[in-house]
Formats: sequence, structure tokens, C-alpha cells
Amino acid sequence: MDKILLLNGPNLNRLGKREPEIYGTTTLGELVGNMKKAALAAGYELTAEQSNHEGVLIDFIHMAEDSGFTGIIFNPGAFTHYSYAIRDAIAGIDVPVIEVHISNVHKRETFRHKSVLAEVTAGQIVGLGLLGYELALQALIKT
Ligand code: DQA
Repeated sequence: MDKILLLNGPNLNRLGKREPEIYGTTTLGELVGNMKKAALAAGYELTAEQSNHEGVLIDFIHMAEDSGFTGIIFNPGAFTHYSYAIRDAIAGIDVPVIEVHISNVHKRETFRHKSVLAEVTAGQIVGLGLLGYELALQALIKT
């Protein structure tokens, strides 16, 4: 079965509790459950990982290529805005990465307006809540 990696970065383990007015009340566990079901219905196996650590996220990105994953759905959290190391990791693999942000980063603080990853990702989905993850899955399946 083809494999998709769902990767969440720092503080996203706190989904459901963390600033619910911005990120909602659904937990990461619930999101992962829903995404696994949606992937399976489309004939894909979804592996979900989360880390608060830059290097660990980079290791997962490398692993996705080495293990033959079809694509990565990635919410890099605040690393989006400044991690050149994650940018280099994405640039160095052949696996498409869709960048997802739950909130509309463009309506928020100025430092969130810039993604240093956007130039090396296949696409970006911003501000559509958790629906963004499902849309990213659809995009990976169809491309
Ligand atoms: C986020 C937006 C980032 O600016 C923030 O640091 C996050 C979450 C989002 O999903 O909206 O941790 O990526």
C-alpha cells in the first residue's frame, strides 16, 4: 500500500488545549484518527509523527524518502518562519511536501507572514483549520 507521512512540528502535540480560539478544540489524536481513516478509504496507509525538535523533524523528512513514502503533509509550526535546516531537508528529497497551517498566518503577527519553506514545498494550505490537512491528502493522492 502507498504511504503518506503526516508530520506535525512544535506545540502541535498540544492541539485541543493550545489557544483553542486559534487552533480549535480537536486534539492531535483525533486529527490523526480522522486522517488515517480518510487515507485508508483512498487506499493509502498514513503514518503520523509529531516532534517539538527541529533535528527529529529533519530525520522524519529523510526517512520519508528512504522508506518510499508518496508524500508528506507537514505543519512545521513556528519552524516555518525561520528553519533553513528544514528547508534544506525538503529541498533535498524527491517526495512532495504540502505545507499546512491551521490558522491564517497572514492575518496574524508579521513574523508569521513569511514561510522560508514555501519555495521548496509542492504547495501550501493556510487558514482553513483542520480541513487543510484533508485537502493536502487529496492533493497528494491526485498528483
Ligand atoms: C501554525 C502557524 C505557526 O505560525 C505557528 O507557530 C504554529 C501553528 C498553524 O498551524 O497555523 O505553531 O503552523
